[in-house]
Amino acid sequence: MQKLIEWIDARLPVVDAFERHMSKYYAPKNFNMWYFFGSLSLLVLVNQLLTGIWLTMSYNPSAEGAFASVEYIMRDVEYGWLLRYLHSTGASAFFVVVYLHMFRGLMYGSYRKPRELVWIFGMTIYLALMAEAFMGYLLPWGQMSYWGAQVIVSLFGAIPFVGDDLALWIRGDYLISGITLNRFFALHVVALPIVLLALVVLHLLALHEVGSNNPDGVEIKKVKDENGIPKDGIPFHPYYTVHDLVAVVVFLFIFCVVVFFFPEMNGFFMEKPNFEPANALKTPDHIAPVWYFTPFYAMLRAVTYPLFGVDAKFWGVVVMGGAIAILFVLPWLDRSPVKSIRYKGLISKVALLLFAISFVVLGYLGALPSTPGRTMVAQIMTTVYFAFFILMPWYSKIDKTKPVPERVTG
Ligand code: HEM
Repeated sequence: MQKLIEWIDARLPVVDAFERHMSKYYAPKNFNMWYFFGSLSLLVLVNQLLTGIWLTMSYNPSAEGAFASVEYIMRDVEYGWLLRYLHSTGASAFFVVVYLHMFRGLMYGSYRKPRELVWIFGMTIYLALMAEAFMGYLLPWGQMSYWGAQVIVSLFGAIPFVGDDLALWIRGDYLISGITLNRFFALHVVALPIVLLALVVLHLLALHEVGSNNPDGVEIKKVKDENGIPKDGIPFHPYYTVHDLVAVVVFLFIFCVVVFFFPEMNGFFMEKPNFEPANALKTPDHIAPVWYFTPFYAMLRAVTYPLFGVDAKFWGVVVMGGAIAILFVLPWLDRSPVKSIRYKGLISKVALLLFAISFVVLGYLGALPSTPGRTMVAQIMTTVYFAFFILMPWYSKIDKTKPVPERVTG
């Protein structure tokens, strides 16, 4: 074995790579449970890739055959039901862990200098993940697949001048059809997974260049021992590999409970109208995206006034796009002298809490049919969401902070 490793290592630096990224990558010793979600995102990514490949073996990407092929997978393919539920539950699990992973970043200021690129790659992953989920959702060719895609693609149509042509170009047809299904399939199973994988590699390379942040927001590289090793760092392998295994076991337990007992999650993970084949002549009573898109959908619907002679729908798209775009520039909005919420003042704490509440409430509203009352709440919550970012340069500067310790605590 040793000889084989030496042989390979003389030709490919595997030992060097393992040491750089695992056994000699020094991570802060004070990681808490919020630091589990990066590894868990990797785990879910692997689950999606493997189950996706196996589903593709029996899936038929045509308007005539897609719905029936999914039924065939569920009933006739050996363990096809398991593959499908692992993949559909995996999609929701992906967003659960990624949202928690992002929230950790918000709490501990992980997006701040020198980790801006880690954050930007993360945000690009998030965008790619949304595209991946959206296109994957069309593939079962159910009623909600069809009409959900119809609603989202038609949003591009709201862009002045070029909108209609753009929507036509995306669909490849005048309405969502087998042609659209075919191209979404190609993007979902080949193009976007490659992009996602490449982005995850870049995300981790950028992280390992600067080193991990931690719940104290203290840079461990500032205090090193005589060998140049951070005093508050521990080798990622074996300490965090073993530590993360605990999270993997807990996660898999919960994941299996959902897969085996609640795969539809009462319509939240698999929506009821999607058990009916797509029908271009019958619009479902209530069209709502899957839960992970509902906060943005609520923002879209919250905009009800036309402006400068342009349709409200267009401004809704602008607000929705802006809600995601503003996250990209977050590293330059936060002017606080401290990174972690632990040492920030009351204003920042309340702001983060209100932001989290607004996101959850918007998510809830986005799943319901709209009423004038709900639209008003969505408008208030959208304002809170944006205020968190727009006012940040101001409140993060004037907020009273606590002194940050020289070394990590705990
Ligand atoms: C496929 C999706 C993703 C995977 C597999 C992934 C993976 C990871 C891993 C393994 C880590 C190191 C462990 C940890 O700190 O938890 C990490 C750190 C980080 N990720 Fe991600 N990530 C993903 C998406 C995102 C997204 C969407 C964002 C934010 C927009 C993001 C922002 C960050 C930041 C800021 C760090 C550094 C955290 C710190 O050092 O405190 N990641 N990521």
